[in-house]
Amino acid sequence: MDKMNQMEELNKEIGSCAKCRLSKTRIKSVPGEGPLDAEYFIVGQGPGANEDKTGRPFIGRAGKLLTELLALAGLDRYKETFITSIVKCLPTPPLNRKPKPDEIAACHDYLARQIELFGAKKIILLGDVAFKEFFKKEKFSDWRGKWRESGGRKYFISYHPAAGIRFQKFKKILEHDFKNLVRGNEKN
Ligand code: URA
Repeated sequence: MDKMNQMEELNKEIGSCAKCRLSKTRIKSVPGEGPLDAEYFIVGQGPGANEDKTGRPFIGRAGKLLTELLALAGLDRYKETFITSIVKCLPTPPLNRKPKPDEIAACHDYLARQIELFGAKKIILLGDVAFKEFFKKEKFSDWRGKWRESGGRKYFISYHPAAGIRFQKFKKILEHDFKNLVRGNEKN
């Protein structure tokens, strides 16, 4: 089966997944979006209400900021990145809460298969939930704004764009991280 078919199969599986409680409250699951040859693989936390309605990742205010941040890094969101999240269904109730450990565990295999399928070599982790999934024993603050190598892949760590919407201070840091650090600086 070619990669496009494999992705479609995986998306179907995610679309009808019932492995955790989030499947009972979701409207649509949100597998992710972007071309198979994307150079950057981006991982957020979990869909919000807009994403739940449409099945598309990062289309609300955080998504608009993410698109702008990627542009600051010289990246075209739709051509050069695949965007997904740690959990593929809206965490609720309460609306937009952090996903729980058992929900993250239930979704883990989907993310692992996506990384494999995309042959992801440069992974951008947005926020501490995404960071902890990859680096359980490490501190987010030690790695924010830096690239780190692990298992033959490179990871860039920054805040989740939702933090930049709530607080100007985080927006400035996100802008700094993306402008100065993403492209061409994978070695620091
Ligand atoms: N925030 C995320 O982490 N993922 C989305 O898809 C949307 C908002």
